[in-house]
Amino acid sequence: MPDPLDQTMPRLNDHPNWVYLLREFETLYRHGSAGGSKAIRAHRKKVRETLTAVIDRNPELIPRAPAAKPVTTHLDHALDLAERDSLRGLARALSRVSQDLTWEFGYETMPKTLERKYAYCEVLGPQGPIRAERLILGFVLFAPSTTYPQHSHKEIEESYISVAGAWSENDGAVYAPGSLILNRPEHEHRITTGERDPCLLAYAWVGAEDRLAAPGMKLSYRRRPRIPPG
Ligand SMILES: [Fe+2]
Repeated sequence: MPDPLDQTMPRLNDHPNWVYLLREFETLYRHGSAGGSKAIRAHRKKVRETLTAVIDRNPELIPRAPAAKPVTTHLDHALDLAERDSLRGLARALSRVSQDLTWEFGYETMPKTLERKYAYCEVLGPQGPIRAERLILGFVLFAPSTTYPQHSHKEIEESYISVAGAWSENDGAVYAPGSLILNRPEHEHRITTGERDPCLLAYAWVGAEDRLAAPGMKLSYRRRPRIPPG
């Protein structure tokens, strides 16, 4: 655990590319539309106010070892796709730190097939790299033709903003770059991605400090009972 009084710890302002990425996040949550939804407007406000306070505080940067996962071989393609759409500012800022990202799975147990198709990286939160207690910002990357099983987040409000690729949640709609989806705490959701392209989503988690420090990621899908042969 880094000592917050340690003056030798690197801080956010020592790393302009991380500041660049956070400012792009801030712009996204400031200028996008809430589509007339009070709940989404309140969520956007919460994210950007918390984020602005974090940037102003110039927090310490927790050193994290960069890590790749099989799905990150799709990242360049996803960033190229994002260049064509409204989220290119965020995609470009992400590309500037892409060598420093720590991609992970998060789940203790998950289907074997998902290991090749999914990973996420945090850019801000209790685990760093940019230290914050009441907000997590990150990206989740899916390979084409992925089904991300049903899950929910206890006491955490989550928004996804689509950066590249097409995807669907709970078979309800197809979301294109620029779309924002709000998942209230405990809302069960399942994601599928299009056949051709990888899918990159930015996400924000808002919740109590202790919950964000230990979100307890768990898939809620049940394995189908095996039917005995014969
Ligand atoms: Fe989720």
